[in-house]
Amino acid sequence: MKNVREGVPFANGEMGKRKKTPHPEAIAKTTVIHPDQTVADLVIQHPEWRERLETMGIDYCCGGKHPLGEAVKAAGIEWPAFLALMNETSAAKTVDPVYENWNEAPLSVLVDHILEKHHTFTKEQLPRLDGLLAKVRVAHGVKHGEMLTRLQSLYDGLHAELDTHLMKEEQILFPAIKGIDAFVNGKGEKPVVQCGSVANPIRQMEAEHDSAGGALAGIRQTTDSYRLPADACLTFKALYDGLQALEADLHEHIHLENNILFPKSIKLEEVMFRY
Ligand SMILES: [Fe+2]
Ligand SMILES: [Fe+2]
Repeated sequence: MKNVREGVPFANGEMGKRKKTPHPEAIAKTTVIHPDQTVADLVIQHPEWRERLETMGIDYCCGGKHPLGEAVKAAGIEWPAFLALMNETSAAKTVDPVYENWNEAPLSVLVDHILEKHHTFTKEQLPRLDGLLAKVRVAHGVKHGEMLTRLQSLYDGLHAELDTHLMKEEQILFPAIKGIDAFVNGKGEKPVVQCGSVANPIRQMEAEHDSAGGALAGIRQTTDSYRLPADACLTFKALYDGLQALEADLHEHIHLENNILFPKSIKLEEVMFRY
């Protein structure tokens, strides 16, 4: 079980409490959290803490590049309270095998995982949510028409953007990354990367992730954080459950791309350019 140790200095400039030098075994089980590290660094190191960060309102996917101290402050949490909460999380949860360390995986394996888990899930959920939203609008349009119209508009924008986004990754960016990975690892010919560098489509994908993140935040706000109205039927509940599942999956999906796959692909391409 890990213990969270505070880094120094704190975001507010005060020096943190230093603990006595721990036994070597204790060092191996200790995590140092520093306000200057990025949110992405923390989540890469501890993917099992994602859910807790999510419930604290700390954005670890599109906002992964922000310093942790700033993200904690923006979520309205004092730094010492944040450390205490993470200590609780650490004590309560051992690493679940589901939280694999994708930072160590070859890029081609990570690409396949993203396709098999996240792209497949998104493509299954979107048509299902289309149907649920249409049914809920018919059944509850009179009483909740204004909210449902706003929700439909946000959802339609997200759906349309995701359709083209997934296609661009699947047809252009991911094959380019796999080609670079194969070449650098001696398993393929040197690929010709369209657009000159993968950094160009990556910039576009990151902008689209920001837009998707904005739409998800808008949906959460419109639904009052998925709080069901008193007269909600089972279809209404299925819609909110499905939207929340889509949100959680997209956060994880975008984290894997923005914080691991994309920066590592740009570095690997730089290696390829040296040949
Ligand atoms: Fe993706
Ligand atoms: Fe993406």
